[in-house]
Amino acid sequence: MSMIQAHALNLSFGSGPALNQVLHDVSLSVADGQSFGLVGESGSGKTTVLRCLAGQYRHWTGALSIAGAPLQHKLAKAHFRHVQMVFQDPYGSLHPRHTIDTALREPLIIHGISNKDDRINQILLKVGLNDGFRYRYPHQLSGGQRQRVAIARALILEPRVLLLDEPTSALDVSVQAEILNLLADLRQREKLTYLMVTHDLGVVTHLCDRVAVMQQGRIVEQLDSQALSQDLAVHDYTRMLVQASRDFSQHAERLAG
Ligand SMILES: Nc1ncnc2c1ncn2[C@@H]1O[C@H](COP(=O)(O)OP(=O)(O)O)[C@@H](O)[C@H]1O
Ligand SMILES: [Mg+2]
Repeated sequence: MSMIQAHALNLSFGSGPALNQVLHDVSLSVADGQSFGLVGESGSGKTTVLRCLAGQYRHWTGALSIAGAPLQHKLAKAHFRHVQMVFQDPYGSLHPRHTIDTALREPLIIHGISNKDDRINQILLKVGLNDGFRYRYPHQLSGGQRQRVAIARALILEPRVLLLDEPTSALDVSVQAEILNLLADLRQREKLTYLMVTHDLGVVTHLCDRVAVMQQGRIVEQLDSQALSQDLAVHDYTRMLVQASRDFSQHAERLAG
C-alpha cells in the first residue's frame, strides 16, 4: 500500500511577471513503512514538497494522498494526527518560553486527547529522555536533546507519517549519528513511514530505502538506495552528487589518516 503519494504536483509563488513556478510535475510514491529520501541542491523545492504534504500550502495543483485518502486543499484536523513534520532547527520549532511539558501538551489539548501526563512521560522515554526533562526550557537542553523533544512532539499524536526536513544538519557531527539511529529505531518500533530531506548521501544509504533527486523543482531521477551505493545512478546531476560525496569521504579519510 502506498502511504504517501504525489502525482503531478505543481506549485507557484507570485503572479504575473513575478511568477515563480517552484514545483514541476513532482510525482512520488512511498510504501507503508518505507523511508524515502529527497536530495538535491538548495532551492530545488525539497522543503516545499514536504510543506504541501504537511498542509502548509493550499494552492498546489495535482493530487496528493496519505494512506489512500486524497488531501483536500482545506485540511481536516485528522490530517495533522496522521502527518507530522520535523524541522532542521529544533530551536525554531520550540517556543523559548514554553517548558517541554507545555510543548508536548499542546497537541494533546488541540486534539482533545486524554491521559496527557502518561502520554508525555511515555513519549519522552521513547525518544531517550526521562520525565526530568518535563519542566525544563529549550535553552536548558543540548541541540541533540532539543531535537529529541521536537521528535517527541511530532510523535505524541501517534502519526503514521513523519516528514523530516534535514533533521540532523543543524546538529554537531558527534550527535548526528545518535539522532539518525533514534529515527531508524522509531520507524521500526512505531511502524512509521518517512519522507526525509537530506543533503547527505551517507544518510540516504543508511536510512532510506529509496531516493528521489530534485533539481530546479523537478524530480530528475528516482532509484533504490542500494542502486545509488552500487553507483548505478544515471542522471548527470545524481552522478555529480555521488562523486562529490565520494571526494568528501576520501578527503576526510586523508585528514583522519
Ligand atoms: N513561501 C514562499 N514564497 C515564495 N517563494 C518561496 C516560498 N517558499 C519557497 N520559495 C521558493 O521556492 C524555491 C524552493 O524552495 P525550497 O523548497 O525551500 O528549496 P529546498 O528545500 O530544496 O532548498 C526557492 O526558490 C524558494 O525561494
Ligand atoms: Mg529546504
